[in-house]
Amino acid sequence: MKLPPKPKDPNWLFYLKFEADPFGYMDFIYKQYGDIVTILSGSQTVIYISNPQGIKEIFTNTKEITARGALNQSFAMGTGKQGVLQLDGLRHKHRRKLLMTSFQEGRTQAFGNRICELTDKIMSQQTIGKPFLAYKIIEDIALRIGIELVLGLSEGDRYENIKHLFSVLMKYEQSPFINLLLQLPIVNQDLGRWSPQGFILNLYQKIFQFLYTEVSERRQKPDSLSSDTLSTLISACDETGEALSDEEVRDLLLSPIFAAQHASGAAIAWSLYWIHRLPEVHKKLLEELSTLGKSPDPMSIATLPYLNNVCNEVLRIYPTQLFTFPRLVESPIKFMGYEFDPGTILIGNIYSTHQREDIYPEPKQFKPERFFEKQYSYFEFLPFGGGARSCIGGAFALFEMKLVLATILSRYQLALVSKKAEHPKFGGLISYPASGVKMVMHGRRKYQRQSQPSAACF
Ligand code: HEM
Repeated sequence: MKLPPKPKDPNWLFYLKFEADPFGYMDFIYKQYGDIVTILSGSQTVIYISNPQGIKEIFTNTKEITARGALNQSFAMGTGKQGVLQLDGLRHKHRRKLLMTSFQEGRTQAFGNRICELTDKIMSQQTIGKPFLAYKIIEDIALRIGIELVLGLSEGDRYENIKHLFSVLMKYEQSPFINLLLQLPIVNQDLGRWSPQGFILNLYQKIFQFLYTEVSERRQKPDSLSSDTLSTLISACDETGEALSDEEVRDLLLSPIFAAQHASGAAIAWSLYWIHRLPEVHKKLLEELSTLGKSPDPMSIATLPYLNNVCNEVLRIYPTQLFTFPRLVESPIKFMGYEFDPGTILIGNIYSTHQREDIYPEPKQFKPERFFEKQYSYFEFLPFGGGARSCIGGAFALFEMKLVLATILSRYQLALVSKKAEHPKFGGLISYPASGVKMVMHGRRKYQRQSQPSAACF
């Protein structure tokens, strides 16, 4: 079997270089070895693809390529053994459909005003003139939105408790110091609650326990009026007509909350960075937003073309999820001039596909206009992946990005504190701004101080 080229760096150096500068190193690999490369992970052959023809194969060839849940077991610590990521086949299809019901457009649209309200509430707490880390603030907003949408909680002790657990976990997992410590084999073990790994495991356990209690209590006192994900799952049946177990419901709730907090939080923080780095983009957005008048409704914000293309360009240039989840070759298959044996793992390289000069001229330039000029295929622009494991929250994530950004831009005058470029950091699954996007609020925009009709966003 002739495999695609393999980078010369030994594995340890490969991972070290990737860790130090993920995007820079991927650019180097693409330039040096092309758009299909082999990486050996122990004895496992993994093929990374950043070619639309190869990506199409991954997303559409369901005969020879599958999206096995077993390949995602390494995420089970955070998503439970029965999370949607760990499932495959019919059960996976069925549970995806259930989760998607609770994220479908009609439901999330009704949530639009709440997104604007929450954003404004958190932003209004910032002190004028005092620098803050935008990523931290946005992550808090995204987590609140996620908890409310998935669990139906918006205040009270239980809400504060679960929000605190998720926030501490994220802070801990993204701490450069803890990450450095966890590189040491001795530290990367559970040595009790006060060791870094033990502390993280303990936090996960507390989150699992909290969600389990929440599921069983809701089961005892179902609320026929609530439309959150928890209610949807409790009232659902599995493919045999049986109710889902409490453990399964708990596991299915985890990925959506994590994704809402991490992926959406990072995408919005990157958006604030680009918009405030490029005055022309900022100006055009403000002009477009002003066409909606003082109290636009969320749906008209969601259909603004320039805002839409700014969000797309953010997800193109720095996709928050750099790779698709792995797929497995089940029977011999040929594409792009190579033959792949069963057992080979295929991964779509989202970042490098989005950086192709032949698809995106001047790929390092932030140019929302490119989305006006060309319609990209699902295999060229894939921030939410595709095929069997495509993101179930993609439409909601875009909707949320637009509303949070529109609320902040229309109501507050912000600026970046430093002129230095913000670099990405790769955190196991997603990439986020390493320095947290330091910003300062100069004031509120005057015309926004009006009383707000309840159906409107501002
Ligand atoms: C900007 C925000 C987001 C980005 C960039 C993003 C991106 C992605 C990507 C690239 C995948 C993998 C697709 C593949 O392997 O083909 C994925 C899967 C997934 N996403 Fe998102 N996501 C975002 C927000 C969300 C939100 C808000 C949710 C909440 C519902 C969510 C839930 C999921 C789930 C559950 C999967 C796994 C689906 C499965 O295993 O079948 N994501 N996402």
